[in-house]
Amino acid sequence: MLRVSGLSKSFGAIQALNNVDVEIARGMIHGIIGPNGSGKTTLFNCVTGLLRPDAGTIALDGMEITSNRPEIIARKGIRRTFQAGKLVPGMTVLENVMSGVNDGIGMAAVDAALRLPFVRSRRETEIHDRAMAALAMAGLEASADRWASDLVWTERQLVQIARALVGEPKLLLLDEPASGMGVREIEKVEEIIRTVRESGVTVVVVSHDVKMLMNLSDLVTVLNFGEKIAEGVPASIRTNPRVLEAYLGAE
Ligand SMILES: Nc1ncnc2c1ncn2[C@@H]1O[C@H](COP(=O)(O)OP(=O)(O)O)[C@@H](O)[C@H]1O
Ligand SMILES: [Mg+2]
Repeated sequence: MLRVSGLSKSFGAIQALNNVDVEIARGMIHGIIGPNGSGKTTLFNCVTGLLRPDAGTIALDGMEITSNRPEIIARKGIRRTFQAGKLVPGMTVLENVMSGVNDGIGMAAVDAALRLPFVRSRRETEIHDRAMAALAMAGLEASADRWASDLVWTERQLVQIARALVGEPKLLLLDEPASGMGVREIEKVEEIIRTVRESGVTVVVVSHDVKMLMNLSDLVTVLNFGEKIAEGVPASIRTNPRVLEAYLGAE
């Protein structure tokens, strides 16, 4: 579904990505691990058009999308969350999720949420229903009308996932979706990610949490200092000498 070939990106003297190849197959939960600073977020930023790579290509379903504008890439079916991403505090949970539609109609739909149902347009109703479905998938249906500012950290992270899902992506990129969470909360996030995959969305999860990604992923790619040092099923990654030395040794 997604093919990243020879991707490189530097920031001054820092080579954040160095000739990285990754292929994401449809229907997978694909984990990307690596210590802090290994280039995981930079990879997402290049794939979603927020950064222009220095070299390499990115193709979605065989069509090159390298350096397309972010909104074009979003419209082609790639949605993401941000590491420690923020919600709009003056809006409800539902409004935050609806604004993720991000096609120019999202904000109008937020206004519509304040009106009575019978004056909503069909399009607005559709966005509302999609947002409720996305919230349900994230286990937050009952929190739809709460203020975003009243949520605890874990709930905010889950709303971010719902906000990405409302765009009905075929490929969902999650950047550290369980950062700052306890064991029980991490398990909940894993369950949600599995549910998302079962609904037909291909998922790429970036994390420095080895244990979580080993549990969750069908396939794992390991980055270290901007280079891919290993790739395979979790069992093979766990025993890979390069991974043990370069990554686990650094913990
Ligand atoms: N916008 C930027 N400007 C300068 N350096 C950056 C920028 N983004 C990332 N970097 C650097 O690139 C490297 C990789 O960062 P990042 O992709 O955020 O790693 P990770 O997500 O794996 O923790 C780090 O050394 C980081 O400091
Ligand atoms: Mg990061």
